[in-house]
Amino acid sequence: MLLDASSPAAIEQAADILASGGLLGLPTETVYGLAARADNDEAVNAIFTTKGRPKGHPLIVHVLDAAAAEAFVAEGFLQQLPDHAAALMRAFWPGPLTVIVPRRADVADAAAGQHATIGLRSPAHPAAQAVLKALLARGVPGLAAPSANRFGSVSPTTAQHVTQEFGEAVPVLDAGACPVGIESTIIDCTRGTPVLLRPGVITPEAIWQKLQVRVQYPQTATDNAPQAPGTLAAHYAPRAKLRLMGAKDMQAALDLLGKDAPAIGIWSRTPVRSKASKVRLAAMPDNAAEAARELFARLRAFDEQGVTLIWVEPVPTSPEWEAVADRLQRAAAG
Ligand code: TXA
Ligand code: MG
Repeated sequence: MLLDASSPAAIEQAADILASGGLLGLPTETVYGLAARADNDEAVNAIFTTKGRPKGHPLIVHVLDAAAAEAFVAEGFLQQLPDHAAALMRAFWPGPLTVIVPRRADVADAAAGQHATIGLRSPAHPAAQAVLKALLARGVPGLAAPSANRFGSVSPTTAQHVTQEFGEAVPVLDAGACPVGIESTIIDCTRGTPVLLRPGVITPEAIWQKLQVRVQYPQTATDNAPQAPGTLAAHYAPRAKLRLMGAKDMQAALDLLGKDAPAIGIWSRTPVRSKASKVRLAAMPDNAAEAARELFARLRAFDEQGVTLIWVEPVPTSPEWEAVADRLQRAAAG
C-alpha cells in the first residue's frame, strides 16, 4: 500500500500505523527507512524479522530534533555531551548525519541491539519531519529505521523499491525519489575524538570547514574500538556481479567481445561503445552528489534488466566522492 506523502491525511494515517506498533516505509532525504516506534521492542523486532537482519545489529533512531533526542540519551548527557557532539547536532541537524552517543539505560533496548550506545539522526525530509511531529503529539519519541531493504541488498531510494523488497503488506509513505540517495554519515561520539564509521555526503572536510572539528578515520583513531557492524565488507550488493574497471579496459573488453557480448551493465563517466544488443550503457554523472542520487537506483535498474555483470568506472579520489567510492567498493565485494 502506498500513501501519498503530500496529503496531510496520509501523514496522520502513517503516524497512526506507527503509533500502534506497525511497520512503515518512511521516506528520508538519504534512503527509505523501514520504520517502527523505537520505544516498543516488539515493533522493533518486526523490523529485524522483516529485513532478515541479525539481532544485535543496532538500528538508527530518528528524532524530530535535538530536544526529542534527549529521550534516548544517557541521563544528563545532552548537557555534558562532548563539545563536538552537541556542535555536530546543532550544525547538521536536521540532515544526513547520524551521531553515536551513550544510551539512556533501558530505553530502546531492541533498537540499540542491546548496545550501551545509540545512533541518533534527525532527518531533514519534510515527510519524515511531519511524521515525527505527528508521532510526538501521540507520545512517541522516535523511530527506529534501518534502510528498507533485505539484509545485504541495495538500499531503496523510491517507494516502489521498498515494495519490491517487502511486497504490498508493508505500507510505504511515497514521497518520490530521495534527494541524497546514499545513507547518512555516521560519527561515533563516544570515544573522546569523533570517529567516522560510515562516509556520507556530509564529509569530514565539511565538518572541519564548519566547526573546526577534526573527524578521525577508524584506522587512525587513537583507541581500537570495534568497527560499526554495518561496515561489513560485502553490503549494498546487487544481484549481478559488480566490478570496478577503468574505461580503457572496458572499451578493450567490449571490442574483444564484439556484438556477441553477454548482458553487461556499464556505468561510466567516460563514454564507451559496444555493438552488442545485450550491453546496457548508462552515463555516470560527473558531479558526485548527482552520482550518489542515482547510484542505488542504477544498480537496481541493471538487475531489473537482467544483466549478469556490472562494470563501473572508478570514481575520482577527491573527498566529495568518498561516500560513493565506499558504496561501490562494498557492492564489488558482495
Ligand atoms: O541514512 C540513513 O542512515 C538511513 C536512513 C533510513 O536514515 N538508515 C540506515 O540505517 O542506513 P541502517 O540500519 O541500514 O544502517 C545503520 C548503520 C549500521 O551500519 C549500524 O551498524 C550502525 O548504523 N549503527 C547504528 N547504531 C549504532 C551504534 N550504536 N553503534 C555503532 N554503529 C551503529
Ligand atoms: Mg542498510
